[in-house]
Amino acid sequence: FNVPDLIRKKRDGEAHTRAELEQLVLGYTRGDVPDYQISAWLMAVYLRGMTAQETADLTLVMATSGDEMNLGDLPRTVDKHSTGGVGDKTSLILTPMLAALGLTVAKMSGRGLAHTGGTIDKLESFPGWTPELREDRFLAQARDIGLALVGQSKDLAPADGKLYALRDVTATVDCLPLIASSIMSKKLASGAHTVVLDVKVGAGAFMRTLEDGRRLARAMVDIGTRASRLVRAVLTDMDTPLGHMAGNSLEVIEALDTLRGEGPQDLTELCVSLAVEALAAYGEDETQAEARARATLTDGTALAKFRAFVEAQGGDALLVDHPERLNVAPGREDVLAPASGFVQSVDALAVGRAVLALGGGRERKGEAIDHGVGVELLKKPGEAVQVGQAVLRLYHRDGRGLDAARTLLEEGLKVAEVAPAAQPLILDRVF
Ligand code: URA
Repeated sequence: FNVPDLIRKKRDGEAHTRAELEQLVLGYTRGDVPDYQISAWLMAVYLRGMTAQETADLTLVMATSGDEMNLGDLPRTVDKHSTGGVGDKTSLILTPMLAALGLTVAKMSGRGLAHTGGTIDKLESFPGWTPELREDRFLAQARDIGLALVGQSKDLAPADGKLYALRDVTATVDCLPLIASSIMSKKLASGAHTVVLDVKVGAGAFMRTLEDGRRLARAMVDIGTRASRLVRAVLTDMDTPLGHMAGNSLEVIEALDTLRGEGPQDLTELCVSLAVEALAAYGEDETQAEARARATLTDGTALAKFRAFVEAQGGDALLVDHPERLNVAPGREDVLAPASGFVQSVDALAVGRAVLALGGGRERKGEAIDHGVGVELLKKPGEAVQVGQAVLRLYHRDGRGLDAARTLLEEGLKVAEVAPAAQPLILDRVF
């Protein structure tokens, strides 16, 4: 076919065949189809949408556009993905829990960008820990410990990398079939049989409403089914940061507390729920799965897996047992309650941006970050406060970004006379 005909087809609202998508997407990845044609096509997709079959076909074309990880005969493989949030240290807790439950996690994780954090950055709070493992070591570690995490390879689903960069500059990022296929192409290429998805909904998330979140979750679960994988999604609140800590080392400390069974309730419940989804995907009874998942946080088995994992990838495992020695920035400043009453909301986006302002995140790929800075929520929505009481704590280094961070937090904190309606963390499940 010629490319203008394919653009016209989508412009007029017709569905593509798999062969047509291959021609467009693989042609673009090879450099045979230029940016301007794919830009026009992306906008046509944005305006006209895609059928479930087209979305699945597009995902498979992207997933097979480069290297694919072969997890071979590793037992009961699971991958996990969060659509991105603030204070979301779930992977640090969930993945060793899954390993302790007899599942295998051999996965790629990302770095933080803009106001959202990334698992690789958090793990680099352990001096020496490396996200780069040769494939044979990666697979051997996954077999031995049940857990290996590496950085995202550029050679995996390269079509997604190129398309995402183009979407970013053509106002075509927030398009459901494009988001679903982008996320799932990387998950399919990463090779795990089962994928649990945490679709974040709210102020600090990509998806602002529950309805949009449900549609994204449904699209990703359908893609997985069509690709013979088991995919389950939970929809979770991201109006408020998860747990109490945002910022790399601070989040590691909170994750270690949680692995010791002493973590905040919302974070603990989310990790247990995601572990239940993974076990249920492999046919386990949900009540039994929940009891087993919870036990890994109190009997030390998940913590032991985490310690072994940090050590295997070169990190200083002593810090796992002495989190107080992790590098936390020494500067402290508190944001105080402007009135007496109840915390109504602590805007997740504002907290994420405050961490960024303090130097804990990056605006552009490749920038260095300060692992030690961040924000602690001393109080969460629903808790009572007195005027002048500390609600949020900033951890800063020599005042860097402090004024900007403080302004963001003051604007993001709402205190009112009446307690807010309780907001459940887990809003829905899709499978
Ligand atoms: N995350 C991705 O990987 N891709 C998108 O399109 C959006 C979020």
